[in-house]
Amino acid sequence: MLSRFVLTLAAAGLMSTAAAAGQSSQAAPKPPSTEDCLACHGDADAKRADGRTVAVDATRFEGSTHGPMACVDCHADLAKLTEFPHADTLAKVACASCHGEIGSKYHDSIHAWAKEKAGLNVAPACADCHGRHDIAKKTEATSRVARANIPATCGGCHDGIKHQYDVSIHAAALKKGQSNAPVCSDCHTAHTIQRADTTAWRLGLTAECGSCHAGVVESFTRTFHGKVTQLGSTRVAACADCHGAHDILPASNPLSTVARANLVTTCGKCHTGANERFVQYDPHPNPQNYQRGAILWWANRFYWVVIPGCFGFFGLHSVLWFWRSRKETPR
Ligand code: HEC
Ligand code: HEC
Ligand code: HEC
Ligand code: HEC
Ligand code: HEC
Ligand code: HEC
Ligand code: HEC
Ligand code: HEC
Ligand code: HEC
Repeated sequence: MLSRFVLTLAAAGLMSTAAAAGQSSQAAPKPPSTEDCLACHGDADAKRADGRTVAVDATRFEGSTHGPMACVDCHADLAKLTEFPHADTLAKVACASCHGEIGSKYHDSIHAWAKEKAGLNVAPACADCHGRHDIAKKTEATSRVARANIPATCGGCHDGIKHQYDVSIHAAALKKGQSNAPVCSDCHTAHTIQRADTTAWRLGLTAECGSCHAGVVESFTRTFHGKVTQLGSTRVAACADCHGAHDILPASNPLSTVARANLVTTCGKCHTGANERFVQYDPHPNPQNYQRGAILWWANRFYWVVIPGCFGFFGLHSVLWFWRSRKETPR
C-alpha cells in the first residue's frame, strides 16, 4: 500500500517536470532518463498492484555491461513517453534490435522454435540465459555465460543432464580450472542449438570432439566405424555411442562405458551377441604404436615393404617388356 503511495507521489513529481520541459521548448521531447525511471523503480519496495516486485537494483544495473545505456534503449516503447505513469503492460525487450546477428542465429535454434512455434513458454529467450539488468561480458567471472557457469545456466532447466555431466571427467577438468574442458556450449553451441538427434549435428560432433582429441579422431577414422561415419551415416558407432555424451569417464574408471568390464554391454547395444572375444577389437588402432597392437604394427610394416616392392618389381617388368616388344615388332 505504502509503495503504491510512494510511486504515485513520484509520478506526480515527474509529470510536472515533463510538463515544464514541454513548455520551455517546442523541440521533440527528450526521452525519459534512467533517473526518471529509477525514481520509482529504484525503490526496493516498488511493487505491482498484485504484489510482485518491479524494483531494479540501480548499482547492479550501472555495473552491468549495459550500464552506460538508458532504460529506454531496451524498454523502447517508453522512449517517446512524456507523461507518467506508463501503461501497466509493456512490450517485450527486443535484444536483437542491437544484437542482430546473434538474434538471427537464435531464431534458427531449437529453443526459439520451442518458444515461438511450439508455444513452450519454458524454453529460454535471451534473458533466461543472460539475465536482465545484471548482464556481464562472458569474460567476467560473474557472467551467467562465463565458461565455469555455463553448466549451471543450462542446468537450470536441463537438470538431469547437468547431474550426468557433473560426474564426468570433463566436469572434473572444468572444476580444476582447465580452460580446455568442454562445457555444454562447446558441443551444442550457444545460439544455434539443434535437436540432438539430427544427422547433421551428430556427424558434426566428431569434429568437435576432435578439436580437443585430435589424435584419437585420427585413429577412429582408420576403423570401419570411422569410415562409414565419414561417408555420412549415423548407423555405426561414433564417439558418443561408445563413450556416452554427458557422463564420459576414462577407461580406467570402472563406471566408464569403455571400461574393460563394460565393453560387452556397450558394443552389445548394436552388436547382438558381442562377447569377450569380439571386444578385443581395437577402436583406436595406431599402426605406429607397437605396444598397442603388434599385429597391426607388423601388418603395416609388411604393407610398406610388400606394396612398393610389388609395384616396383612389376612396374620395372612392364617397362622392360614394352621396350623389348617395340624392338621385336616389325615396322
Ligand atoms: C511513477 C512511477 C514509475 C515510473 C516513473 C516508471 N515506472 Fe515502470 N512501473 C511502475 C509500476 C507501478 C509498474 C507496475 C505496473 C503493474 O502494476 O503491473 C511498472 C512496471 C514497469 C515494467 C513492467 C511492465 C510489464 O509489462 O510487466 C517495466 C518494464 C517498467 N515499468 C519500466 C519502466 C521504465 C523503463 C521507466 C522509465 C522510462 C519506468 N518504468 C518508469 C511505475 C513507474
Ligand atoms: C539490456 C536491456 C535492458 C535494459 C537496459 C533495462 N532493462 Fe528492464 N528488463 C529487461 C528485460 C529483458 C526484462 C524482462 C521482460 C522482457 O523480456 O521484456 C526487463 C524487465 C523489467 C521490469 C519488470 C520487472 C522485472 O524485473 O521483470 C522492470 C520494472 C524494468 N525492466 C525496469 C528497468 C529499468 C528501470 C531500467 C533502467 C534502470 C531497465 N529496466 C533497463 C531488459 C532491460
Ligand atoms: C540457451 C542459452 C542462451 C540463449 C537463449 C542466448 N544466449 Fe547469448 N550466450 C549464451 C552463451 C552460453 C554464451 C557464451 C558463448 C561462448 O562462450 O562462446 C553467449 C554469448 C552471448 C554474447 C557474447 C558475444 C559472443 O557471442 O561471444 C552475446 C552478445 C549474446 N550471447 C547475446 C544473446 C542474445 C541477443 C540472445 C537472444 C537473441 C541470446 N544471447 C540468447 C547463451 C545463450
Ligand atoms: C540498445 C542496444 C542494445 C540492446 C537493446 C541490448 N544490448 Fe547487449 N550490448 C549492447 C552494447 C553496446 C554492448 C557492449 C558491447 C561491447 O562492449 O562490446 C552490449 C553487450 C552485451 C553483452 C556482452 C557481450 C560480450 O562481449 O560478452 C551481452 C551478453 C549482451 N549485450 C546481451 C544482451 C541481451 C541478452 C539483451 C536483451 C535483454 C541485450 N543485450 C540488449 C547493446 C544492446
Ligand atoms: C562432450 C560433448 C557434450 C557436452 C559437453 C554436452 N553435451 Fe549434451 N549431448 C551431447 C550428445 C552427443 C548428445 C546426444 C546423446 C544421445 O543421443 O544419447 C547430447 C544430448 C543432449 C540433449 C538432448 C538429449 C536428451 O537426452 O534429452 C540435451 C538437452 C543436452 N545434451 C544438454 C546438454 C547440457 C545442458 C550440457 C551441459 C551441462 C551438455 N548437453 C553438455 C554432447 C554433449
Ligand atoms: C529456460 C529453460 C532452458 C534453458 C536455460 C536452456 N534450455 Fe535447452 N531446452 C529447453 C526447452 C524447453 C527445450 C525444448 C525441449 C524439447 O522440445 O525437446 C530445450 C531443448 C534443448 C535441446 C534439444 C533437445 C532435444 O530433444 O534434442 C538441447 C540440445 C538444449 N536444449 C541444450 C541447451 C543448452 C546447451 C543450454 C545452455 C546454453 C540450454 N539448453 C538452456 C529449455 C532450456
Ligand atoms: C567403437 C567404440 C568407440 C568409438 C566409436 C570411439 N571410442 Fe574412444 N575408446 C573406446 C575404448 C574401448 C577406449 C578404451 C581403450 C583404449 O584406450 O583403446 C577408448 C579410448 C578413448 C580415449 C582415451 C584414450 C587415451 O589415450 O587415454 C579417448 C580420449 C577417446 N577414446 C575419445 C574418442 C573420440 C573423440 C572418439 C570419436 C572420434 C572415439 N573415442 C570413438 C571406444 C570407442
Ligand atoms: C573443449 C575440449 C574438449 C572437447 C570438445 C571434448 N573433450 Fe574430452 N576431454 C577434454 C579434457 C580437457 C579432458 C581431461 C583429460 C585430461 O585432463 O588430460 C578430456 C577427457 C576425455 C576422456 C578421458 C580421457 C582419458 O584420459 O582416458 C574421454 C574418453 C573423452 N574426453 C572423450 C571425449 C568425447 C567422446 C568427446 C566428444 C563427444 C570429447 N571428449 C570432447 C577436452 C575435450
Ligand atoms: C551405435 C551402434 C554401434 C556400437 C555402439 C558399436 N558398433 Fe560396431 N558396428 C556398427 C555397425 C552398424 C557396423 C556395420 C556392420 C554391421 O552391420 O554389423 C559395425 C561394424 C563393426 C565392425 C566391423 C564389421 C564387422 O562386423 O566385422 C567391428 C569389428 C565392430 N563394429 C566392432 C565394435 C566394437 C568392438 C564395439 C564396442 C567397443 C562396437 N563395434 C560398437 C554399430 C555399432
